[in-house]
Amino acid sequence: MLEIKNLTVEVGSRKVLRDISISVPSGSTSVLFGPNGSGKSSLLNTIMGLGNFRVVEGQIIFDGEDITYLPVHERAKLGIGLMSQRPPNLVGVQLKDMLRVTSKGKKDPAKLADSLNMKRFLDRDVNVGFSGGEIKRSELLQLAAQNPCLYLLDEPESGVDLESIERVGNMIHDLLTGGVTCAGRRAMEGKSALVITHTGQILDYIEADRGYVLCDGVVACSGNPRELLREIRNHGYEECAECRLLKQR
Ligand SMILES: Nc1ncnc2c1ncn2[C@@H]1O[C@H](COP(=O)(O)OP(=O)(O)OP(=O)(O)O)[C@@H](O)[C@H]1O
Ligand SMILES: [Mg+2]
Repeated sequence: MLEIKNLTVEVGSRKVLRDISISVPSGSTSVLFGPNGSGKSSLLNTIMGLGNFRVVEGQIIFDGEDITYLPVHERAKLGIGLMSQRPPNLVGVQLKDMLRVTSKGKKDPAKLADSLNMKRFLDRDVNVGFSGGEIKRSELLQLAAQNPCLYLLDEPESGVDLESIERVGNMIHDLLTGGVTCAGRRAMEGKSALVITHTGQILDYIEADRGYVLCDGVVACSGNPRELLREIRNHGYEECAECRLLKQR
């Protein structure tokens, strides 16, 4: 579904990602770990085509198509959706209108909002004055409306209260497992996801096959996501052998 080949990305005068190679097969979920500032959000934004990230080397292949230089709306049309870590405030755009347009009128905004206990937000401008957890839930509602084939989730559980986390986790589980139709076409082997998490809480709700640790813009190691998380919890990133080696370079 998604194949990132030897991707090197600059922002400003700085290389934020170096020689990244990651693949997320159809119907599978991969997880990205890494310390603050290691390049995780930069990677998701680059895949979505957002921000000032310049690909200076490598390729992003989605469903067999080279999307490296495609504009963001074309990527969205192909079936890529992003839950952003820090989405903008959309002054003048009410959440209910956003959900209606994003779902091309196919989904009832009130029904969608009810699933995340967000009905009272429908008449408000998207993200304006929303709390951190409310922004996450609003982002997820918009993804549910879009129904993409590939979900890019930037810290979906961050800032979400304990009661809502179950709703968020269950909704992500349902979105990833519910049906094979997405973005108006068929994802033959199901939907895919690339998920950033610091706490690993989201792993209680989704089946993740592979985990990657990003350190200083480089994939330092990969493996079973739960084992990687245990390593990080026990030894921290500083003690992660590969990260330490990278720092010494
Ligand atoms: N537009 C930009 N201009 C300059 N530097 C940037 C820009 N965008 C990102 N960076 C830098 O790139 C690095 C990686 O940032 P990124 O947001 O990808 O980190 P992250 O791994 O998502 O961290 P966190 O866990 O804190 O969310 C940071 O040092 C950040 O300051
Ligand atoms: Mg980030």
